[in-house]
Amino acid sequence: MKTKLIKPVIAMFFLFVPITFFGQMKITHTDTILKTGWYNVSNQETVFKRQLDKSSEFYYINPEVKVPVEQFEELRIIENEYNGNKYLSLVIRFNRNGTENWSNATKESIGKQMALIIDDKLVSAPRVNAQITTGVSSLYNPDYSKEDLEELLKLIGITDKAIYLPAPQLDGLVSVEKALHDRRSRRDFQDKEISLENLSQILWSAYGITFPINDIPFLRGGLRTAPSAGGLYPLEIYVAVGKVHGLPTGLYKYVPDGHKLLSIINEDIRSELCIAAIGQPMVKEAPVSIVYTAIFSRTTDKYGQRGRERYVCIDLGHSAENVYLQVESLGLGTCASAAFSDEKMSTLLQLPKDEEPLYLMSIGHNKRQD
Ligand SMILES: Cc1cc2nc3c(=O)[nH]c(=O)nc-3n(C[C@H](O)[C@H](O)[C@H](O)COP(=O)(O)O)c2cc1C
Repeated sequence: MKTKLIKPVIAMFFLFVPITFFGQMKITHTDTILKTGWYNVSNQETVFKRQLDKSSEFYYINPEVKVPVEQFEELRIIENEYNGNKYLSLVIRFNRNGTENWSNATKESIGKQMALIIDDKLVSAPRVNAQITTGVSSLYNPDYSKEDLEELLKLIGITDKAIYLPAPQLDGLVSVEKALHDRRSRRDFQDKEISLENLSQILWSAYGITFPINDIPFLRGGLRTAPSAGGLYPLEIYVAVGKVHGLPTGLYKYVPDGHKLLSIINEDIRSELCIAAIGQPMVKEAPVSIVYTAIFSRTTDKYGQRGRERYVCIDLGHSAENVYLQVESLGLGTCASAAFSDEKMSTLLQLPKDEEPLYLMSIGHNKRQD
């Protein structure tokens, strides 16, 4: 791979889209993650020409909508298997600004083409089939070795900033029946930290991956602890950390694929969270709260209005009950809360426009056992 062609990656326009491709480029579209052919950029003039030859209607779309490298949040190499063939992909996750740009760009370009430009050269021009609302994309080129991809990562200068959580335990001391029997909404918490292991276990129970599947991109890593209509997993989970042993205070996002957290805000947001939750004291007092949001379009794109009115909230109920039971079995307490200002919550969590807050669960050590 000729690195000089990639260096000014700042000049990258992001593209990635579903679909139609030319020559050696292969694109598999899914609702959420795109795979685009990734070719030898040292030979891009040829590729460019070939594209032009094959596409009589080539043009640039939205050249002003850029997703520059600063808006990448995470880059990593993954190994996938598809139809029995193993291949390497470079997965890019955008930060919030990147996701918004990405979402806008794809929305405005439906039915048209976008361009990926590296170093002022056109690298690809896929046709946009659907608005892409997540900030995840995946680039694939069968010709590239792991070393090539690692070299690109180094050039771009972004490393994986994720915080990997301890592996969940698959056995506990409390039976499901006992947890069901003892479960209560508990609102009085001690001023005491919870362990990272417990937080990990709770997040895993909520949406953790239990059956990894890498070749169906919309699953975003595989099947989960909670069922979801169509396996579309519309929920996202944020974690407001006040007192968790070994984890700096702040706001994080849980990423089931890899069982990890991405940092969003580096300060304790519990007071603001409490204000957003119309002043409910437990929200400020709990060492940690999780906030469920939903990207409804993941489900409504397939199921329409029924998805909005029913499926997303049914999915949420499954996941939240897992949390109730897991928390109970860990000897901790939680209370779910739907009473909050949507607007304040969205602002506090810095949610993109297509993501809506739905549920808050404050978690901690119970003051009393009742
Ligand atoms: C959709 C929903 C919203 C809720 N919102 C709140 C809330 O905003 N504040 C609160 O203190 N409890 C909230 N709860 C908890 C209920 O008050 C609690 O589940 C109910 O009193 C039954 O008690 P139990 O959970 O201990 O069985 C909510 C529960 C549900 C299912």
